[in-house]
Amino acid sequence: MTTEFPPIGLGTSGMDDPDDCRENVETAVEAGYGHIDTAQMYGNEASVGEGIERADVPREDVTLATKVHPENLAYDDVIESTEASLDALGVESVDLLYVHWPTDAYDPGDTLPAFDEVRDRGWTDHVGVSNFDRDLLADAQEVLDAPIVANQIEMHPLLPPTGAMLSYCANHDVAPVAYSPLCRGDALELDEVVAVAEKHDLSPARVLIAWLADQSVPVVTKASGTDHIEDTLAGLDLELDDEDRARIDGVERRYRRFDRDGSPWN
Ligand SMILES: NC(=O)c1ccc[n+]([C@@H]2O[C@H](COP(=O)([O-])OP(=O)(O)OC[C@H]3O[C@@H](n4cnc5c(N)ncnc54)[C@H](OP(=O)(O)O)[C@@H]3O)[C@@H](O)[C@H]2O)c1
Repeated sequence: MTTEFPPIGLGTSGMDDPDDCRENVETAVEAGYGHIDTAQMYGNEASVGEGIERADVPREDVTLATKVHPENLAYDDVIESTEASLDALGVESVDLLYVHWPTDAYDPGDTLPAFDEVRDRGWTDHVGVSNFDRDLLADAQEVLDAPIVANQIEMHPLLPPTGAMLSYCANHDVAPVAYSPLCRGDALELDEVVAVAEKHDLSPARVLIAWLADQSVPVVTKASGTDHIEDTLAGLDLELDDEDRARIDGVERRYRRFDRDGSPWN
């Protein structure tokens, strides 16, 4: 991983068909996605690894991230399941290994030393967390020797990044990575987003990516097929103006798409 967190990553949740997954990953890497996001939970690490391997891009130019399943967060299970993830991905190490959710078997005093151990073994370059509120993030930082380089959380106009989380991350060198930036498609239909898209004669997907990029928030988004993969990537080239920002910031409805057992949100 480069020192700057890549501005866009391909999310692979729901890419269940191995051929499609492999092809989407290969297409995305060659199109310029600098980051590929998978997880033990998605059951597709093997196809993700093959897609990266096939892409005509040097491996060191791609940030590969996976996440330890919330049920695998006891110390020994972190070690064993990470080794299995590396086998499935066909790599000796990943760039970033996340705690997927602070739920189920998550116990900071047990889980996080295992992440340090995995990093000491050279199986991951960096440690990240996902779905952590600021208190959990601060607690984890106390326990871990490794710096936490990313907190991957749900963000889109229906669940905008909070100033408190963004400033905490900025002050602690944590990348606030947005997942589901299109709200799994629901945000594409918001009137405010459609209006900005029509004004620029570009797709709503581009507008949603641009809105987060404008706030210096890196994204992981799922896109399938060359058209969606290239369209979404081009969101990084769109510059929003004050009127666009005000319009999207004016979305008042709040909706959180992903919740696991009433897990915290900040
Ligand atoms: N850490 C966590 O707990 C967590 C939770 C959820 C998600 N994630 C990560 O975040 C990634 C992205 O989130 P997500 O998969 O929930 O949803 P998302 O990226 O918000 O939206 C994906 C949906 O948008 C469609 N889409 C993509 N590009 C488009 C375009 N240019 N025009 C129109 N539609 C487009 C996709 O359809 P097609 O597939 O047909 O292109 C798909 O239906 C996941 O894949 C996963 O890696 C992490």
